[in-house]
Amino acid sequence: MSNGYHIPVLRKEAVDALITTADGVYVDGTLGGGGHAEAIAKKIFPNGLLIGIDADADAIAEAQRRFSATTDFQQFIGSGHIILVHDNVSNIQAILRQRNVRQIHGLLLDIGVSSFQLDEGSKGFSFRTNDALDMRMDKRQTLDARTVVNTYSEQELARVFWRYGEEKSSRRIARAIVEHRAHRRIETTGELAFVVEEKASGKFFVKTLARVFQALRIEVNHELENLSNTLRETMEVLAAGGRIVVISYHSLEDRIVKNFFQVEAADKVSSGHKLLPDMPRVPRLRVITKKPIIASDEEQLQNPRSRSAKMRAAERL
Ligand SMILES: C[S@@+](CC[C@H](N)C(=O)[O-])C[C@H]1O[C@@H](n2cnc3c(N)ncnc32)[C@H](O)[C@@H]1O
Repeated sequence: MSNGYHIPVLRKEAVDALITTADGVYVDGTLGGGGHAEAIAKKIFPNGLLIGIDADADAIAEAQRRFSATTDFQQFIGSGHIILVHDNVSNIQAILRQRNVRQIHGLLLDIGVSSFQLDEGSKGFSFRTNDALDMRMDKRQTLDARTVVNTYSEQELARVFWRYGEEKSSRRIARAIVEHRAHRRIETTGELAFVVEEKASGKFFVKTLARVFQALRIEVNHELENLSNTLRETMEVLAAGGRIVVISYHSLEDRIVKNFFQVEAADKVSSGHKLLPDMPRVPRLRVITKKPIIASDEEQLQNPRSRSAKMRAAERL
């Protein structure tokens, strides 16, 4: 592990795809431990501007620590060339407006959770430990996993597990949760894992647990809506020639990015009716990665987390 917090995935590939001008303005919308941000800062030092955003206050503190460890970066921060913001990147337009930044030259998203968040018990993301069922990236938010598990209806829970976890036993698991909580609220990750495990089929129970926990995390943090909103908002602030680079870790996220890029790169819009002709439109993006970039064998060997990573990049026209 490079700094113990999180090993950055596809770091060189992402940063090379992102940076087109060394004195540009770049946003790392998912700062995490600052692994990608540090590589961006090195490339744009001393004239560029880096805005690092994370919904998790611990990530901001970690990135601050990382940048403060180097004299060059201390000065870079001190002179306002690195700005760290505790917010959700889906608020990108407001974040930039508040700092009088009108345009950016690139946005990097390395979505999902960091290794630190998964390992840190107090975050309540993992079924491998027994901690309070929380899962909020941003502790200022009121909705947490405990609320979802104890207050959503059986149908709503089944929908969450099916849509965000693609879990085949979603209904059975939702029913088991509702039956369990009728006697006793589910307060911890361990209690939830116990209820799910009982309904999971045999040797695949770990995969079922992973899918259920992933689904809850996506629901609690509105991850898919935030991704769509971020991409949409960014189009309004991205300079011509500027890049959007997204690294995602599961098919739901990758599909959103792929579809968004495809629609924005199309020169026509479907009329929605076979008798009516498609409408011409001016494309706003050029897709740079026809196929997603994946981690090399070597990276996959060194960092198992990189195995599911897919990177896509597009350029504003
Ligand atoms: C995979 S980690 C990023 C790791 C980082 N690239 C690095 O090299 O250390 C994802 C980070 O993004 C944050 N995050 C996820 N979705 C977010 C969102 N919509 N807005 C802001 N931060 C978000 C998480 O809190 C987490 O710290």
